[in-house]
Amino acid sequence: MSEPTIEDYYVEDRTFAPPADFAASALCCDQSLWDEANADFEAFWARQARELVTWSKDFHTTLEWDLPNAKWFVGGQLNISENCLDRHIAAGKGDRVAYHWEGEPGDTRTITYAELHEEVCKFANVLKGLGLKKGDRIAIYMPMIPELAITMLACTRIGVAHSVIFGGFSPDAIVDRCVDAEARAIVTADAGFRRGAPSALKVNVDTALDDNKAPSVEHVVVVNRCDTDVTMAEGRDIWWHEAMAEASADCAPEPMDSEDLLYLLYTSGTTAKPKGIMHTTGGYLTQVAFTHKYVFDLQPDTDVYWCAADIGWVTGHSYIVYGPLTNGCTSVMYEGTPDTPARDRLWDIAERYGVTQLYTAPTAIRTFMKWGHEEVAKHDLSKLRVLGTVGEPINPEAWMWYHEHIGGGNTPIVDTWWQTETGGHMISPLPGASTTKPGSANGAIPGVFAELVDDNGNVVTEGGGYLTIAKPWPSMLRGIWGDPERFHETYWSRFPGRYFAGDGAKIDNGGYLWVLGRVDDVMNISGHRISTAEVESALVDHQAVAEAAVVGATDDTTGQAIVGYVILRGTHEASDELGEEIRQHVATKLGAIARPRAVVLVPDLPKTRSGKIMRRLLRDVAEGRVLGDTTTLADESVVEEIKTRAAASDED
Ligand code: WTA
Repeated sequence: MSEPTIEDYYVEDRTFAPPADFAASALCCDQSLWDEANADFEAFWARQARELVTWSKDFHTTLEWDLPNAKWFVGGQLNISENCLDRHIAAGKGDRVAYHWEGEPGDTRTITYAELHEEVCKFANVLKGLGLKKGDRIAIYMPMIPELAITMLACTRIGVAHSVIFGGFSPDAIVDRCVDAEARAIVTADAGFRRGAPSALKVNVDTALDDNKAPSVEHVVVVNRCDTDVTMAEGRDIWWHEAMAEASADCAPEPMDSEDLLYLLYTSGTTAKPKGIMHTTGGYLTQVAFTHKYVFDLQPDTDVYWCAADIGWVTGHSYIVYGPLTNGCTSVMYEGTPDTPARDRLWDIAERYGVTQLYTAPTAIRTFMKWGHEEVAKHDLSKLRVLGTVGEPINPEAWMWYHEHIGGGNTPIVDTWWQTETGGHMISPLPGASTTKPGSANGAIPGVFAELVDDNGNVVTEGGGYLTIAKPWPSMLRGIWGDPERFHETYWSRFPGRYFAGDGAKIDNGGYLWVLGRVDDVMNISGHRISTAEVESALVDHQAVAEAAVVGATDDTTGQAIVGYVILRGTHEASDELGEEIRQHVATKLGAIARPRAVVLVPDLPKTRSGKIMRRLLRDVAEGRVLGDTTTLADESVVEEIKTRAAASDED
């Protein structure tokens, strides 16, 4: 782990106070929530839990904390689908739109809370009919269509935990996740629309299930989204529409304990094996509902909220499905890419539905900057009230562009720092209360306690350090599926008594936090976490590769980009074609998001005398920097040779 550096960090003097008219009608316009939470954080969260969530049985204890194991709202019972659907209908809001769904080809679907409830109950009965029951796990591998949210909610209705697998992942990724979770079924679609054409999904499921590679999977349910040809395996595969046609719309919600498993979501760690992050029911729902309400200043009767993420990642779980539906708001959901059919697609959607909150990633903002603000200017975005960003540090230039060109210069920006593991927002401004600085996520939200520490675990109040969380929070991960030791070791052992998940940060003299990025071997590519070890193992899986080292090099658009250094086996000759074939091999093994920007074929790798690969040097080479200290290198000439090869591959 290398010390986060603050030298390359800037001083930011520009400040943006909440506009007066915004603050005047905001849900929170002062320090009161922080004061309340600082006085007694358990009482604060207990109040949120009782106000925002409906419990069929009240909890008797707010928190039981035995590091690293937390239990929140102990003794309480609730059902998440009931919180997301039934109670809004009972309150007379069944006709409110839950989702304005927009397909990539331009087809649309408007789904009210009452309609969503009916579909969820029906699909819950389909799952029951397949023999699924409380405590089971299923995998979901779908495009961004309403059936994806319906499937997740149907799982919660009957107590089945879901594991959503991002649609861009490969068959191998499906196998690993289904085997690890012992998933009994997969819900998928024939394909989803991407960049104007169907992108196949079912065929990847077929490949994953070939040769009994994932023996726990008994059933596959297939949505017909694109009308493409698929092969249905007799006795294993069923069509969604056929099963739904016969299903009853009557399904009582299963009461769940606050600490019952809600879902697994696999994320990259520092080893090649992704971790199944476990989230449970009561605490998770409380924190996502609280943050969705206060961070976006949600006014559910009038707002049209849009999180433009994919449900395959945690952002979509918490802020497309569970947070918005618990709060009974109207959301937009979009299937496709932002440049299909044209580069103003998002702005066209935002204008048509009158979007009031937009939540997206810095990578997307930098891409929109490249496309030019003229694309934005074609549309009326004056209804936007709050802009959100997530997934990676936002550079001040992108922040200012977002502020000026999307927000019209008077819309608060909430830069939200959190992780798959944290379940919900942890560090963020509240838009009516916080004065923001471009590039800073401000400080912890009420009820969360973030602190920077130095190498020895001492708290840093100004300067650089490791970002830690000092107290448990309701939506924290409850473990890594099947690996309690790794849970303790990964998050709770580096700084005793504190949660640490790998980010470095800086705190300025005004107390503003600036998250700098990962300090471990996890890369952040367009806001997606990929570990160097995962890509290295995909590289050495190619028959021509003897050894590989991977680094994340700075990239103007995607934040970081993957650069692989590869030593070929004996008789293989280096060539551009072979480099390209190896790049493609990684995409096939892991999914297109993990395809390296460059694969450099090298005669050797720079290693210390004890044999450790010096990734820092490789990153310097990839970023074209003057090389740092090479005196611990076993063979210094190796670096010169690599520099020459890397320069040649950059010119290609
Ligand atoms: C990074 C995504 C800076 C960080 C919700 C973290 C951020 C990792 C921000 C988690 C932000 C997320 N500013 N960095 N606002 N938000 N990150 O699990 O490195 O996919 O550890 O969760 O993204 O990524 P994950």
